Amino acid sequence: MLISKSMNAALNTQVGQEFGASLQYVQIATYFDREGLPTLAQHFYKQAEEEREHAMKFVRFIADAAGEVAIPAIQAPQPTFQSAEEAVRKSVDWEVTVTKQINALMDLAIKDNDHITRNFLNWFMEEQLEEVSSMETLLSMVRRAGESGLLFVENYLAQGRKGAAPEAGGES
Ligand SMILES: [Fe+2]
Ligand SMILES: [Fe+2]
Repeated sequence: MLISKSMNAALNTQVGQEFGASLQYVQIATYFDREGLPTLAQHFYKQAEEEREHAMKFVRFIADAAGEVAIPAIQAPQPTFQSAEEAVRKSVDWEVTVTKQINALMDLAIKDNDHITRNFLNWFMEEQLEEVSSMETLLSMVRRAGESGLLFVENYLAQGRKGAAPEAGGES
């Protein structure tokens, strides 16, 4: 096994966190669907897919390192929101939390002199910077637009999809 037992356990925990983020984003997407905001909904369905891919990256890494994959119980996501702002704030909070978790994994890799895991985690460090930044941009836009102005946010995201403007949430 190329990774320590404690690293193996910490990586399994992170698999659960990434699947958890995926489920939370599915819930947020359905909130926007119900509110008649299909582009925001699509944006979050796409985020949910990306989080699933993150989980699978961790799974493949553990397997490649000859570790033992053990997916933990996933906490149920928050099902309802009072406003678009609350839903997007939930995503920002989630991304900030995940960034701290990836930082802690990196600390452990450094402590273990585990350069293979450090190298693997570098991709996630960059990804988190981008995700926190784009999610915070989206939150500012939703706040500025207000509940009655969410169609502006829809238009902005729709334009990004056509390549006319950078999409909040980015590509990865
Ligand atoms: Fe993620
Ligand atoms: Fe994320």
